[in-house]
Amino acid sequence: MNEYDSDLVGRFLVNSGLAPADNHGNADFIIINTCTVRAKAQQKAFSILGRMAALKKKRRPDLILGIMGCVAQQEGPDLINRFPELDFVLGTREIGRFPEILDRVMNGHEKVVAVDLSQIKSFPDMNHNYYQGRVKGYLSIMEGCNNFCSFCIVPFVRGREVSRTSRDIIREAECLISQGIKEITLLGQNVNSYLSREEKDVGFPMLLKMLNGLDGLTRIRFTTSHPKDLSDQLIRCFEELDKLCPHIHLPLQSGSNKILSRMNRRYTREEYLELVRKLRDMGLDLSITSDIIVGFPGETDEDFKMTLELIKRIEFDGIYSFKYSDRKGTLAEKMNGKVSEDEKAARLLKLQGIQHAITLKRNNNYLGRLQDVLVEGESKKGGQLTGRTGSNKIVNFDCNSSNLGHIVKVLIKGVSSNSLQGLLVNRQ
Ligand code: 5AD
Ligand code: SF4
Repeated sequence: MNEYDSDLVGRFLVNSGLAPADNHGNADFIIINTCTVRAKAQQKAFSILGRMAALKKKRRPDLILGIMGCVAQQEGPDLINRFPELDFVLGTREIGRFPEILDRVMNGHEKVVAVDLSQIKSFPDMNHNYYQGRVKGYLSIMEGCNNFCSFCIVPFVRGREVSRTSRDIIREAECLISQGIKEITLLGQNVNSYLSREEKDVGFPMLLKMLNGLDGLTRIRFTTSHPKDLSDQLIRCFEELDKLCPHIHLPLQSGSNKILSRMNRRYTREEYLELVRKLRDMGLDLSITSDIIVGFPGETDEDFKMTLELIKRIEFDGIYSFKYSDRKGTLAEKMNGKVSEDEKAARLLKLQGIQHAITLKRNNNYLGRLQDVLVEGESKKGGQLTGRTGSNKIVNFDCNSSNLGHIVKVLIKGVSSNSLQGLLVNRQ
């Protein structure tokens, strides 16, 4: 969501005639986009802000410096008191006001704090070529979250759930496609509860159907789904919609029913297993990834073992795993049974070791198989092109760049836990 918001502000900036600088040292305008989901992300945001404020103070007094995102939303005007070099603080729901704020800061020499969370985020139309040269883009279909998982700061910094209309979403998708985007990832904190009431209750499966009909679009993905709201109708979309990629990110968080209940997740491990069964029973080679938190308050060795047992049973294609981090104002922050940092670190290491072997095993299933890969650009190491399978596995292979943005057939010849190595067979 933050990457999408950065693009949104980037689009405003390009639209107003500014161009990207090649590094922060020669930029006239710096905006720091921030995350506060865990303490570490927040610390990083403050450290970058400190460095940029020092740069302005010591060497670049004319630099315009702003902060946006979840830390900006959470801290509001306090940030300007702490960092007088800041020109503006832009909250998560006020991004649509960016052009007005830009004008007030640049021409009126004002300091602006815009952190009203009760606003409905607006997504103005923009004609520009911001996405040119890119193959993939994000598209936010809803904002905020009503779930209040007890560990999570998101409902406090992103506000209540609001869905955009399908009309608005389709218009933005068409704008991305017209600039060459082939793959769109739909974003929402909980896309399963997408509902456009203004349009006679268009729900998420219906929205997917509409997008599947767009000419010029090759692939659709979405993230994130909440297991408590994953409907049979949505599961069927994987079979019915040819552009919907066979991958789902379905955060489990814990394998212990006691911890899931303390997390306020509103499903059990048995219900989660049933969803996995339904997803795998379609026989689509669908990949499943997940998020796991270790060391949630009250998590005993036994609870943690249940998580390990479940991840071994499910065999996720990959997981993002985190040590529980106290967030101010959440229910979990006030819970007893806090787990020590050392214990959290030990559990994380154990979990990641086990998952590493599982990911490698899942990736090994691809050996010798032909895959459709959307070519996205140069590989990280350089010298090769990179793309992804529908199931979201990274594939690196030799290929010339005329295939950029096309689906090609690649034979998988080697695997690691991060990516697959392939041989180009032909263009589809
Ligand atoms: N501590 C650790 N991990 C967290 N997440 C969200 N809040 C916290 C927290 N307080 C993780 C969850 C979520 C992912 C985006 O971040 O696993 O799914
Ligand atoms: Fe946070 Fe839970 Fe909402 Fe996800 S569903 S954003 S974890 S409160």
